[in-house]
Order: sequence, then C-alpha cells, then structure tokens
Amino acid sequence: MRAIEIENPGSGYVLKVADIAKPVPGAGEVLIRNAAAGLNRADLSQAMGGYPPPPGAPATLGMECSGTIEAVGPGVAAFKPGDAVCALLGGGGYAEYVAVSDKLILPVPKGVGLIDAAALPEVYFTVWTNLMDAARLQPGESVLIHGGSSGIGTAAIQLLHARGHKVFATAGSADKCKAIAALGADVAINYREEDFVAVVKDKTGGKGVDVILDMVGGDYIQRNMSAAAIWGRIVNIAYQSGMQATVNFAPMLMKRLSLLATTLRARSNEEKGVIRDAVLREVWPLIEAGKIKPVVDRTYPLAEAGDAHKRLAGSEHIGKILLTL
Ligand SMILES: NC(=O)c1ccc[n+]([C@@H]2O[C@H](COP(=O)([O-])OP(=O)(O)OC[C@H]3O[C@@H](n4cnc5c(N)ncnc54)[C@H](OP(=O)(O)O)[C@@H]3O)[C@@H](O)[C@H]2O)c1
Repeated sequence: MRAIEIENPGSGYVLKVADIAKPVPGAGEVLIRNAAAGLNRADLSQAMGGYPPPPGAPATLGMECSGTIEAVGPGVAAFKPGDAVCALLGGGGYAEYVAVSDKLILPVPKGVGLIDAAALPEVYFTVWTNLMDAARLQPGESVLIHGGSSGIGTAAIQLLHARGHKVFATAGSADKCKAIAALGADVAINYREEDFVAVVKDKTGGKGVDVILDMVGGDYIQRNMSAAAIWGRIVNIAYQSGMQATVNFAPMLMKRLSLLATTLRARSNEEKGVIRDAVLREVWPLIEAGKIKPVVDRTYPLAEAGDAHKRLAGSEHIGKILLTL
C-alpha cells in the first residue's frame, strides 16, 4: 500500500510516498481504508526525530484518520465492513490502510463528510479529557484558550461556546481573531498586540478565568497564574515557547490554583476508550445538531504531505490540515 515515509529524519526531513506492507487487523482491531488523515503539530516533532509513536503503534506518521472499514479482526462486534468511521491512532494515518483498536473508533457524525471527519478525533479527545478530566470544568465557568486558531483551539472554542461557557482565546493576527470570534470566542485577543492578562482582568472585573488551556508555556506559565481566578485550573498540553521557566509560585498559594499537564498519545487504549465514549456521548450530538463543525483549513493529496507540513510549521492555517488518500 502507499504510505508516507520520512527520509532523513531531522530538521531537513523529506516526506516521500513509499510502498509498505498492508496491515492485518489483530484481535479487537479493525482495518480502515483511509479517506483522509489529519495533521498534528506532533507530526512535525516525529518527522524531526522526536516524539516517537507508542510501543506497538505503526512507525508511519499520522495520529488520526477517517475512512471505511475494510475488515474486522476477531472479537470486534460494534463495527462491520463498510462502516464510515474516524479514529484516533497511535500512528499510521498517512497511509492507505491502518489497523486500530475498536476502542479508538467513532462513527462519522451525520452531516459531516467522510474526508472532513479526519479533523475530529485528535482535537476532541484532547480537548475533552483536558477540560473535563484534568481541569474538572464546571457549568458556567469561564475559560481561556491559548492558540485559538489551532486545530485544538478551534475545537475547544466551539465546544465551550456550545456548552454555554464564556470563552476567551488568543491568536496571532487580526484575521485569526476574526475567525475565532466567528467560532464562538466571546473575547478574541491578538496576543501580538494585547496583553492577555490585562484583557482577561478587564473583562472579568478583576476576577480572572476559571480554567486555562495552554499550549504555549514559557513566560505564559507565570502570566497564566496572573490571569487565573481563585481556585483556577491551568492545563498545559504543550510548551511551544519552552519547558523551562523561572516562576514565582506565590499566586498558586494565594489563589489556590492547580497547575496540570497531560499527554494523550502515551495512554492505554482502555483509557482512550473511556474518552472515546465521553466524546461520542457529549460531543457527537452537538456536531450532528450543527452546533460544532470540523474546521478544515486545507486538504492536500498524500504525495504533497511535505507541503502540508510546511503550512502547519509556518502556522499559516486556521483549524485542521488534512491529507487525502
Ligand atoms: N498533550 C496532548 O495530549 C496534545 C494533544 C494534541 C495536541 N497537543 C499540542 O497542542 C498544540 C496544538 O496542536 P495543533 O495540532 O492544534 O497545532 P497547531 O494547529 O499547529 O497550533 C499551534 C498554535 O499555537 C499558536 N501559538 C504559538 N505561539 C503562541 C503564543 N505565544 N500565544 C498564543 N498562541 C500561540 C499558533 O497560533 P498563532 O499563529 O496565532 O501564533 C498555532 O495556532 C501543539 O503544540 C500540539 O503538540 C498536545
């Protein structure tokens, strides 16, 4: 089958189409004929030689896909050949076929195209588990999302807006701020021109926000503490501006804050399956009701995976970039 291979992993990596063996579904797995694969920022790290797939996952890039079930392995009862699905993957999405545990699969929501469905799994698994399991978000609480125009950010904003939360979000240009406001951000902050701490304080009467979802780190670690309300929870899913910082922890004590961080990829299929069930129960009905939509920035054919990576690396996109098979 056709799949993307990484030539010269490292800063000068090249993505090439190669012919590799078609996977065979094992017990509890399904074989998906991929229609599309979603790009994730972690794919860039993997291509540069970091962030390897978890043990047992395919070495090929690609942490999510959509497509049609071609075959099922022993013990799979909930899905059958011909079903249109999307899936969270440990790896292997940039390929014609992928075998994956049936715990990581969701039906394509009604009203969503087969290709666009590849934009859904990684963002909603991540947003759900970080806001709900880690930050224990309560009804009516306010939330600040950093990287509002990212795949993750565009998903988080829509979900929070649909569930009635007040949403603050940061983005790096006026166009991106306009786009995230249209998705439901009540306060869109151009972080290159405004201080998000000052804006949050101003718009909350000095109180701050209850929950912050951060993918930036670096100096945001201290500034998030300033923007958080009493009993606030701050969850990091990445540290794009740096994993190290000199921090004054006094606000943690004074405001009774929680500082959290999680990754999704390394968790067991059982743990991911629990998140899948919650996403299917809580998010899929909002998609099927038209309250949440996949935000697809651009699609590229598989052979142009390198160009797709360049667009993601340059942060030119709003939402998700997809590869079509
Ligand atoms: N821990 C986990 O389980 C997990 C799971 C999924 C994703 N992630 C991580 O979450 C992040 C988002 O993933 P993605 O695939 O959605 O990536 P993405 O679409 O490439 O988004 C990255 C975003 O970061 C924003 N950004 C960079 N510097 C910023 C700053 N100083 N302030 C505010 N925003 C800033 C960029 O926006 P501008 O262009 O506006 O700067 C861009 O939108 C990635 O770092 C990814 O690795 C973690």
